[in-house]
Amino acid sequence: MKINLEFWRQTDPADKGHFETHTLENVEQEASFLEMLDQLNEELFAEGKEPLAFDSDCREGICGQCGIVINGDPHGPEVTTTCQLHMRHFKDGDTITVEPWRSTGFPVLRDLVIDRTAFDRIVQAGGYISVNTGAAPDAHAIPVRKANAEKAFEAAACIGCGACVAACPNGSAMLFTSAKVVHLGLLPQGKPESKERVVNMLMQHDEEGFGGCTNAGACASACPKEVPLEFISMLNWEVLKAF
Ligand code: SF4
Ligand code: FES
Repeated sequence: MKINLEFWRQTDPADKGHFETHTLENVEQEASFLEMLDQLNEELFAEGKEPLAFDSDCREGICGQCGIVINGDPHGPEVTTTCQLHMRHFKDGDTITVEPWRSTGFPVLRDLVIDRTAFDRIVQAGGYISVNTGAAPDAHAIPVRKANAEKAFEAAACIGCGACVAACPNGSAMLFTSAKVVHLGLLPQGKPESKERVVNMLMQHDEEGFGGCTNAGACASACPKEVPLEFISMLNWEVLKAF
């Protein structure tokens, strides 16, 4: 396939940034989106140009590192991560625009690479348990209602990619934060710290410059792990209980 690429170039956080273009003549339909960007970089390198900087690690939809905005959609046209998106979802001759996540909480470091450490600081503020749960047999001996175990598992599917923030008109990270709060709050081991957790994580969320939630729902639509909007309601319930 022939693909016309428009990609974001930015040398550092202070740079205004701009779009550049390049045409790839022989992209395989079976190639993943990141393999197509690898091909772009081989061609840029051969022409003596700077390769395009982008993040990736597992390339298996697990680590959450690869997020970019593709034709205006976080992770592109499918409900999946950028690394699991394949070129068969595009047509010969298509023009594809690639940009970094755009949010105050995620400064652009270079080209498509953003600083995602705001998420680490939200987790550090309360996304953990500090009670002693003993060894594995002790943890297994604590009964957990099946419905709670399944909901906690659903919340644990969040990979911290940040697509929810990129999709949100307010740049809110409430879906990410709610997934962490719900995950731990539903389990017996997470209950002793549940009040401090939700308050501290929300305070850190706001301090990082993420916006408030107005129930737009764009976050859940963009989430590659289908974390449901319902978790934000569950987070709000945790806030009410905390006060
Ligand atoms: S809630 Fe979904 S979109 Fe947001 S960080 Fe987690 S996996 Fe990514
Ligand atoms: S590279 Fe790990 S989720 Fe895409």
